[in-house]
Amino acid sequence: MNKHTTAFIAHRGASHDAPENTMAAFNLAWQQDADGIEGDFRLTKDGVIVCVHDASAKRTAGLDINIAEASLAELRRLDAGCWKGDQWRGAGIPVIDEVLESVPAGKRIFIEIKCGVEIFPALNKALAGSGLDCGQVAIIAFDTAVIIEAKKKFPRIKTFWLTNFTEDKNTGAVKPSPDEIVAMLEKTGADGVDCREHAVVDQQFVQILRKAHKEIHIWTVDNVSAARRLLDMGVDSLTTNRAGWLKQQIPGR
Ligand code: G3P
Ligand code: CA
Repeated sequence: MNKHTTAFIAHRGASHDAPENTMAAFNLAWQQDADGIEGDFRLTKDGVIVCVHDASAKRTAGLDINIAEASLAELRRLDAGCWKGDQWRGAGIPVIDEVLESVPAGKRIFIEIKCGVEIFPALNKALAGSGLDCGQVAIIAFDTAVIIEAKKKFPRIKTFWLTNFTEDKNTGAVKPSPDEIVAMLEKTGADGVDCREHAVVDQQFVQILRKAHKEIHIWTVDNVSAARRLLDMGVDSLTTNRAGWLKQQIPGR
């Protein structure tokens, strides 16, 4: 067992088993004893925060409409469950208040902001009305402007900068390097990185981030050996489509 407690965060809810980013997926994640949930949030044209991954509702709810150009009423008519199987028919697109309300005491939510800083007034209202402690919430985003603004607006809420890794075809160098990540975290005021699972996340990577007093979160880890490797290094969380199953595979983690 590692010395550090690593949280298992349910990616888009229990999205292996249930339709992503629906209340069915989030409630199932809690039933499966996830330590937290992750969801993707966007602002509708009438200023409501809804939980949808893609810019369009097409893939998960069948209508090719941009969330930013849709009203809540239009989105509420859609079925975001049936693509995953008949038993999920009727699962709707949730608003953020419903998702926040589902978070039990002692559990966490990673709010991924998929749009821009225009979401913050509505997010402020939703968080204030949720009754959640700041420690139960993290804001994550790829967009560094969103991270900077989140830290200004919610200084007591942790922010994690999302990044993928790319390999230079000529040199083989993987970017961003741990030093580049630390520089970005310092620049944006982020409390840590939330990066894609990659071999480049090794002991040295972890040491560099720890020395800078930054957290390390990893997505999306559905594989037992990858999870064990990361647990042994003491990362702060694993975001996984299969939180319940993965926890069971690694008893005494
Ligand atoms: O948890 C971070 C991860 O969700 C970012 O990627 O595309 O699944 O939102 P994506
Ligand atoms: Ca996400």
